[in-house]
Amino acid sequence: MRLYGRVLCCFSILYRCLAIPMRKRRCKCKGTLLFLIYRQMKLYQTLESQLKKEPNYVSDNGELKKWVVIDKAQNFDEELIELLLKEPIVKSSFFKEIAGVTVFNQSLFLQFLEQKNFLNDSYTQFKNKIGLTIDGKYLKQRNEVALVWPFKDCVLEGGQSREEDKREEIFFNEILAQDEITQLLEPKVITNAKHIDKEGEISLSKLNRDAELNKNRGLPEDTITDNLIIKGNNLLALHSLKKEFTGKVKLIYIDPPYNTGNDGFKYNDNFNHSTWLTFMENRLAISKELLKDDGLIFINLDDIEEAYARVLTDEIFGVNNFINVITVKSSTPSGTKTAHKEKTIIKQKDLILVYRKSAQATFNPQYTIRERWDTHYSKYLTKNKDSYGLENLTDILLKEGVIEEKISNNQIDINNQHFKKFYLENSDKICRLQSHKNKEAEKISRTKKDIVYEHFKNEVSQGLFYNGQVITPLKQGIKKVYQNQKFIEDLGMLLCDFWWDIDFQNTQNEGGVSFPTAKKPELLLSRIIEMASDENDIVLDYHLGSGTTCSVAHKMKRQYIGVEQLDYGENDSVKRLANVINGDQSGVSKAYNWQGGGSFVYLELKKYNQTFIEQIQEAKNTEELLNIWEQMKVKSFLNYNVDIQKQEEHIEEFKTLTLAEQKQHLVEILDKNQLYVNLSALDDKDFACTEEEKKVTQDFYQLKN
Ligand SMILES: C[S@@+](CC[C@H](N)C(=O)[O-])C[C@H]1O[C@@H](n2cnc3c(N)ncnc32)[C@H](O)[C@@H]1O
Repeated sequence: MRLYGRVLCCFSILYRCLAIPMRKRRCKCKGTLLFLIYRQMKLYQTLESQLKKEPNYVSDNGELKKWVVIDKAQNFDEELIELLLKEPIVKSSFFKEIAGVTVFNQSLFLQFLEQKNFLNDSYTQFKNKIGLTIDGKYLKQRNEVALVWPFKDCVLEGGQSREEDKREEIFFNEILAQDEITQLLEPKVITNAKHIDKEGEISLSKLNRDAELNKNRGLPEDTITDNLIIKGNNLLALHSLKKEFTGKVKLIYIDPPYNTGNDGFKYNDNFNHSTWLTFMENRLAISKELLKDDGLIFINLDDIEEAYARVLTDEIFGVNNFINVITVKSSTPSGTKTAHKEKTIIKQKDLILVYRKSAQATFNPQYTIRERWDTHYSKYLTKNKDSYGLENLTDILLKEGVIEEKISNNQIDINNQHFKKFYLENSDKICRLQSHKNKEAEKISRTKKDIVYEHFKNEVSQGLFYNGQVITPLKQGIKKVYQNQKFIEDLGMLLCDFWWDIDFQNTQNEGGVSFPTAKKPELLLSRIIEMASDENDIVLDYHLGSGTTCSVAHKMKRQYIGVEQLDYGENDSVKRLANVINGDQSGVSKAYNWQGGGSFVYLELKKYNQTFIEQIQEAKNTEELLNIWEQMKVKSFLNYNVDIQKQEEHIEEFKTLTLAEQKQHLVEILDKNQLYVNLSALDDKDFACTEEEKKVTQDFYQLKN
């Protein structure tokens, strides 16, 4: 029956695929329908096995890479068309003879492939239709990878804060099509591994895998238990983490380039919408795989890309897994920011998209301090032997000498130290009256006019009631809240999707590193980490920047993985984490009584072509670039279509280009599959991996040597 229903769903497209005129056949009889079902199944099977004859269309686990085929079909790929023509049933379904010419019915073929029923793929045609399109193709179908490099050297110039000081950055984005991606996403060889703790750093060959800790946190016993900081392109780092961390990460926080085009610091984030979306899609798709089933992801953006990202993230994580968008007040309008107030509405907020991996995810609710006394708490509960009484709070306050004269409307100054002490010490007695769902208790209580009545059910107290209302003590509203760099117990207000209470202005010195404009406050991260994880959970940030996420995670006893491509020198996350280990007292340290300690492991992905890219970025003139080209000719991997001789023939033309164009050209011709040394080349002499590199790489990927 289910099959019958499913077939009916895509009935019209199947009719078209099978080239059966709809009007003639409509509802003739069940026999016709069964015949159609049979033909449909046959076409599914035949097409699948025909396509699987081409190894490039088949994944490692033997499944058809449907989206690769779609990509090829969209480009009228000759090899694909040849393959389809070889199979008679497929040929008759998707090709037409017109005036002696065989014409490929591309749109019919694409529609057929995109059906949910074909290969049981979960992407329905409908979902595709609401997805993002770029150049008329759905982002998901493009199967492209966005790689991004800033051209300049990689040290953040501290103190550069005025807009006019901004340097002319050239930002190079390369989008690789499916065809060009062969080994790009293979795991990479690890190099320069160090263990860093209070004693300093030592080189590392073996990672910790604490079986007991893993058992307690419900992860496989051989999971890495070290904190990791990885230097390298985050897309490739994420793919290198895949084998070890799939399904193990509890929380991902990222703060990617907002795509504003005017961030006043080292990396330039000015690239167009489509590149930005491709860039995000590549990384978010693998992020999802790394998340635990009860995991959560927080994506920090602003309004430039948030709406675009939302469509993308709905598609990747599923509409049902969207939790909310948190609006965070991130600045106060003043100075130059308000210069165009007559022309625009000044931005004052950041936006954080929150998704869960599945319905298994839960949150630890967070509270902020109530700035005003909640005037509903106007009663005071007294107890005399077994009986309770209810008095007005202000009468008690007068009697206890907390206030000197009667106040109207309970307008008590919450900052009055006498009052604060009194209300915290008596939070079980200060109370309010509220309506309650327990109708029976309410009814009985109404009959006991002006008497506090305790209602029991099966000898268990259901609470105190008064004139039909339940008595709620203030204690229930006392929460852990952050104030003056500490967590205290105070009257809390549940934090929902608007966070106005975090200071973004005074974060410059947090962690002892300078990261103008982009550094996030430690309090923001501690709130997210509190909300979405528990001690020993794994937290990942693959846009680490100055290392806020990992610093806070370290102070909060979470295991962390941070990935950053740039080396920020004196302001690098590694320096910041070393400060944390040595007892850094900035940011949220006092709140977590941070005294220092712990360790982390620093790793790099072993560069190959990436080394040339960095040399190209740093070159000051054409002469330097030409020297690099000489090296590239001998040592680098160039794209398969690059003819060295042709390059040489046009060298004079090359010299006439601007320096930026020369750089762009040289970067472009390098094969990106060989940016870093692929794991499969670990023993390949050409890549000259050292014994240390082999040892740590084998240990990281748990390979037998
Ligand atoms: C807005 S900053 C993050 C700031 C961070 N939240 C903090 O508090 O310091 C974004 C970071 O992402 C990094 N990034 C951008 N593209 C990257 C890539 N492809 N691989 C690794 N890191 C990348 C940038 O270098 C930059 O440091």
